[in-house]
Amino acid sequence: MYVCICRGVTEKAIREAVHDGADRMRDLKECLGVTEQCGICACHAKQILDETLRERPPQMQSFLSSSACLCETSV
Ligand code: FES
Repeated sequence: MYVCICRGVTEKAIREAVHDGADRMRDLKECLGVTEQCGICACHAKQILDETLRERPPQMQSFLSSSACLCETSV
């Protein structure tokens, strides 16, 4: 399923990037281009990022993303 339509980034690609070491939205932006254009994908991408980080082994979970998604704070 596409998460970022502007850059053609799928959920699978985000999960693979996280498994390869991406642990922040900045990393996803740099390696996949997520949020570089309209930014609508930010909340969904962050959700997938956090879900995938939680799947990491316990010793690596200290890397959980601490950045807040703007759409979560505007409610
Ligand atoms: S949908 Fe990701 S930047 Fe537009």
